[in-house]
Amino acid sequence: MTMFLVRTATRTAVRTNSCRSFCVSHTHLSDRKGLVLGVFEKKEEEEEGTLHLTEAAAGFDKSLSGKLSELLKLSGPALKNGKSRVFYGLHKDFPCVAVVGLGKNNAGVCGTENWDTSKENIRQAVSAGCRLLQDLEVSHVEVDSCGDAQSAAEGTVLGLFQYDQLKSKKKTKVTTQLHGSADVVGWEKGVMYGEGQNLARLLMEAPANHITPTAFAKTIEEKLAPHADRVTIHKRPQAWIEEQQMGAFLSVSKGSEEPPVFLELHYNGSPDSKQPPLLLVGKGITFDSGGISLKPSASMDAMRADMGGAATVCASIVTAASLKLPVNIIGLAPLCENMPSGKATKPGDVVRAKNGKTIQVDNTDAEGRLILADALCYGHVFNPRAIVNVATLTGAMDVALGSAAAGVFTNSDWLWEQLHRASVVTGDRVWRMPLFQHYTKQVTDSQLADLNNVGKYSRSGGACTAAAFLREFVKAPHWAHLDIAGVMSNKDEIPYLRKGMSGRPTRTLVEFAAGLAHNG
Ligand code: BES
Ligand code: ZN
Ligand code: ZN
Repeated sequence: MTMFLVRTATRTAVRTNSCRSFCVSHTHLSDRKGLVLGVFEKKEEEEEGTLHLTEAAAGFDKSLSGKLSELLKLSGPALKNGKSRVFYGLHKDFPCVAVVGLGKNNAGVCGTENWDTSKENIRQAVSAGCRLLQDLEVSHVEVDSCGDAQSAAEGTVLGLFQYDQLKSKKKTKVTTQLHGSADVVGWEKGVMYGEGQNLARLLMEAPANHITPTAFAKTIEEKLAPHADRVTIHKRPQAWIEEQQMGAFLSVSKGSEEPPVFLELHYNGSPDSKQPPLLLVGKGITFDSGGISLKPSASMDAMRADMGGAATVCASIVTAASLKLPVNIIGLAPLCENMPSGKATKPGDVVRAKNGKTIQVDNTDAEGRLILADALCYGHVFNPRAIVNVATLTGAMDVALGSAAAGVFTNSDWLWEQLHRASVVTGDRVWRMPLFQHYTKQVTDSQLADLNNVGKYSRSGGACTAAAFLREFVKAPHWAHLDIAGVMSNKDEIPYLRKGMSGRPTRTLVEFAAGLAHNG
C-alpha cells in the first residue's frame, strides 16, 4: 500500500506535497494526465464508510478491481462536500487521480438558497479537483460529469481560470475533457458558459491602461469575428455620440484624454430577422476615479472593473453567438473613463440627456447613471421585447446584499421571473429590489434641473435612488436594472472562482437569453 501516496486538500488551502516519491518512468512530467472523479455523501441512515461513487468513478473502480474504493476508505474520513484527495500511481494512464466530495446525492433546487444545490456542489467539487491537479502541473485532465456534464464543465473552466497574462511565472495550462459520460453536448455547453464568464473576468481584471474604451471595443470585435455571418458591430466614435446629443454620457467622458466609444452589437440569431430584440445595456466605465468628486485612493484600483456591466453584457452576447442561440440580441456599451481634469464636469454643473431631460450633477462619482441614461434613451429605437441593463452602479448595493446576489430593479413581473429562473439554474443569483415612487421623489427634486444625479438624502437607499434615476429614461414595459457592484469581485465567497474580478452574472444573462430563445 505504501506506493500510493495520498494527499488531502481543502477548498481554500492547497499545500505543496514535497515528498512525491513514486516513479512513472514512461511519463514526462510535462504531459502527465489527471482524472477528477466524484463521490457522494452517505445517507444519514447508512453506516460509516459506505461509499457512493458516481457512475464514472464506479466504472474506474471496477476496472481496478475495487482499488479506488479500498484506498478511499483507507486514506481517511469520508470526503465532505468540496473536499478532495489525490491518489498517485493508481492507474497507468492517470498518474494523478483527484477524488472530490459532491455532498448529498439528488440535493436539487433549494427554496431558501434560490439555487440548485446539486449543480453548485458539482461546480465547487470539480473546480477544487482540477485546481489541485493544476498545482501538481498536470497538463491534461479528464473530468467526471458527476451526473451533470454542464455543471462539471463550468466548474472546470471557471476553476482553472487565472489572470496571469502580465506575469512571467504562469500557472500550468491545462487541457480538459469529459470522462466516462456520453453527454458531450452538455459538457460543451458548460465549457461555453464558463468561457463566457472568463471573458468578462479577463476584461474586468485587466488594468485600465490596457483595457481602454478603444481596446475594450477591439477585444469584443475580435471575439465576435468568427460569428460575422450573424453579427454586426458598430464602434461609434465621439462625433457620433455628439450627433446623438448624448450630453450626459459626454459630461462623464470629457474629463479624460481617452476617447469614448459607444459600442453597439447586433446578434441576429433568430430565424425571424424581424423578431424584436432583447436589448442588453452595460455600464462601461473603464476606470472610475470619481472625477472631481474624487474617490479615496485606497482600493481605487478596483475601479478598473467599473466596466463590469459592459463586460458581462458583451461576453454574454459572444457566448450567445457561440451557442448559436435562436434569438435576436442588441448590446449597447457606453465606454469611457471618469477622470478629474481641467475639462471635467464640476459638482453643480447641469447637463442635458438625449431625451432632453436636464440633470444637475451634484456628485461626479455618480457617473454610471449618466452614461446609462443616454444609452437607455437610444435603445428604445430598436423597439426591444425587453431591456436589461447591467452596471456596477452603487457601493450601496454591496452594503445591501454583499456578494450573494445581484440586485434586480424591474417594472415587469414577467422579466423578474425569467431572470430569477435563470439564476437558480446558474447559481449566480439575483434578488429583487424596490422601484418605489418614494425613491423617485428623491432624485426628481433638484434645485437647478429636472433631475439630480444623487438622492437628496445622500447615502440612504443609494442603490434604490440610482435605480429610480435610471427609470426616468425608460418607457418600455419590460425593463430590468441589475446592480452588480456587490458581485463585481470575489474574495473566497464563491469557491469555484479564484480571488479577483468575478465576471458575474454572465452565465445568468446567457441562461436568461437561452430561456427567451427556447420559450418564445
Ligand atoms: N462605480 C461606483 C460604484 C461601485 C462601488 C462599484 C464599489 C463597485 C464597487 C459608482 O460609480 C459610484 O461611485 N457610486 C457612488 C454613488 C454616490 C456618489 C451617490 C457610490 O456608490 O458611492
Ligand atoms: Zn463613480
Ligand atoms: Zn462607477
